Amino acid sequence: MEYLTLKNSDLKVSRMCMGGCPMGGYGWGSNVLESELIDAVHCALDNGINFFDTADTYGLGQSEKILGKALKGRRDKAVIASKFGVHAKNGMPTFYDNSPEWIKSSIKGTLKRLDTDYLDLYQIHYRDEKTPLSEVVDTLEELKKAGYIRYYGLSNIHKSDIPELKEYKGRFVSFQDEYSLACRKNEDDFLNLSKNLCLTPLTWGSLGQGILTGKYDRNTVFADDDRRSRDIYVNFHGEKLEKNLEIVEVLKNISNDTGKSIPAIAIRFILDFLTDSVVLVGIKRPSQLKANIEAFGWKLDDEQIKILDEISKN
Ligand SMILES: NC(=O)c1ccc[n+]([C@@H]2O[C@H](COP(=O)([O-])OP(=O)(O)OC[C@H]3O[C@@H](n4cnc5c(N)ncnc54)[C@H](OP(=O)(O)O)[C@@H]3O)[C@@H](O)[C@H]2O)c1
Repeated sequence: MEYLTLKNSDLKVSRMCMGGCPMGGYGWGSNVLESELIDAVHCALDNGINFFDTADTYGLGQSEKILGKALKGRRDKAVIASKFGVHAKNGMPTFYDNSPEWIKSSIKGTLKRLDTDYLDLYQIHYRDEKTPLSEVVDTLEELKKAGYIRYYGLSNIHKSDIPELKEYKGRFVSFQDEYSLACRKNEDDFLNLSKNLCLTPLTWGSLGQGILTGKYDRNTVFADDDRRSRDIYVNFHGEKLEKNLEIVEVLKNISNDTGKSIPAIAIRFILDFLTDSVVLVGIKRPSQLKANIEAFGWKLDDEQIKILDEISKN
């Protein structure tokens, strides 16, 4: 495993973070089993992965609950990141909410579901349009002083937020957004925020929600309860799917040459291209984790990086 320390912090984390989105169950199809998810968390810890990402909205708390259950007795071995900012309750309209009241009630729910008394990293999932950033930062500082959270980070921010964020340089430690061979549109933001605001890039959708594993093709039909059946999951539809399948062909060739799994090549590209990043990967079972950690202990050569860079440019 490779490790780095998140900027502005003493959080030493593995460069692969187990993503908790599939743990929420909702929208990932019926092949997600709690027992396999828990085994996957144990397998992650046993293989040197100490970083876990979840959110209060993933399955409306289910992801946090399963992660807490899986980490029982091993909490001190894990760095846990969760998120707030989506005001979601069963049967009620959902909206973004960064108000101090919502943040303070969210952290209590998160800690309870995770069965822990502190969170290592608390991330703004989405910014709302009304709460000033200064109020959000003041509230997060309050949570820090109270010992509820150790550090805080960002996710999915708008470009228009960046000038204001400069005032808070050194406070936030990380920034999450989508990034993979199938989605490089946020690359400049990652490079800019890493260099100028000292934020560690955390890439989500690192396998393009699964398309970069090589197991899907144009004949794949997702069940209605799988989000990837919907057109907004662009990686699996239309021209974008065709482009992704070309990338997968290149991944397959490199996989044959290196003897590493196809997803491992896709992950290695991010590790080698954004050299100070952590790759977030959604994992449903130990076998997926094992294939993904083949990304570690070696590097792509310059020629392989060049080919992957060229085929995946937006
Ligand atoms: N900040 C945000 O707004 C945000 C948004 C999205 C995600 N995230 C975070 O980032 C994490 C990663 O993103 P993601 O989960 O959406 O997408 P992803 O990591 O690109 O794809 C995950 C999916 O790929 C498949 N997979 C993974 N490893 C595999 C393997 N070795 N072989 C075959 N299939 C494999 C699994 O689904 P199947 O087996 O069903 O194909 C898995 O659920 C999330 O879990 C979450 O923690 C954050």
